[in-house]
Amino acid sequence: MSSASVMPSAGEGASKPDTKLTQEEFERVTALVMALAGIVIKEHKREMLVARLSRRLRALNFSNVSAYLDFVESPKGEGEIGELINAVTTNLTSFFREGHHFEHFQKEMLEPMAAAGQPRVRVWSSACSTGEEPYSIAMTAQSANGYNRFSDFKLLATDLDTNVLAKASSGVYATDRVKTIPTDKLGRFFRKHGDGEHVVKDEVKSIISFRQLNLLHQWPVKGPFDVIFCRNVLIYFDAPTKRDIVDRLVRLVRPEGTLYLGHSESLLGDHPLLVSEGKTIYRRRPE
Ligand SMILES: C[S@@+](CC[C@H](N)C(=O)[O-])C[C@H]1O[C@@H](n2cnc3c(N)ncnc32)[C@H](O)[C@@H]1O
Repeated sequence: MSSASVMPSAGEGASKPDTKLTQEEFERVTALVMALAGIVIKEHKREMLVARLSRRLRALNFSNVSAYLDFVESPKGEGEIGELINAVTTNLTSFFREGHHFEHFQKEMLEPMAAAGQPRVRVWSSACSTGEEPYSIAMTAQSANGYNRFSDFKLLATDLDTNVLAKASSGVYATDRVKTIPTDKLGRFFRKHGDGEHVVKDEVKSIISFRQLNLLHQWPVKGPFDVIFCRNVLIYFDAPTKRDIVDRLVRLVRPEGTLYLGHSESLLGDHPLLVSEGKTIYRRRPE
């Protein structure tokens, strides 16, 4: 989605927008976000919504939420849809978050695949946010025993939010963001840039493709994947959406491949094609 290219007409704006949200506006905006991104915004997130909408209102010089929503829903506001979704998504992430996934990925997936002489590996980070997850995957892979035996290793990293994708592909992180990276990996895979910035080296970046993808829509991706990470995004969807996405993900994982979910996410009951292999780690059954 592109950023807003059309500004509201002159006279529309006001210096201090009225961001109080009526019940009607709350229902209108939450229905729109649900339809566009599948994200459920409950009543207790109202303040968060007001704060984030007010930034968009200020940026586009709108005086109130209804006028902003009229614009978003008009043909001229098409470019703002992406910005609205960007504004309401939560992008919290960190390097090596939920470390047991990376240990499992290395010991139970990468090293056995290398030992078996499998040349081609495909991994998908399906809600990659600002890049910490895919870079952690790539660093784990490039540190694993036998990595050099993979002649064709590719990592697809996707997210709905174009702002986080831009940050991810820049590969630049402040010192406080890289604290959870083990020292040996930080030294090997990052170079220092200016004051307190760390930049991911090209050897890591070169195996990752960043793309925009809405998990709610059709996925222009080719499986099968050896491994899919879909972590800390399903929590934003309602149960039927979540079930549908998990089902489509499972069908893209190869037999004996692995699906990693986020710490508070479950499969909503057993899935016939999956076997649990520890906390939020699921292995696809052999054919
Ligand atoms: C909390 S972050 C999780 C990041 C990372 N997977 C992790 O566990 O650290 C959730 C991400 O999901 C993305 N997201 C939300 N709705 C989405 C959708 N419909 N399709 C794809 N990504 C979505 C957000 O933009 C955000 O970057």
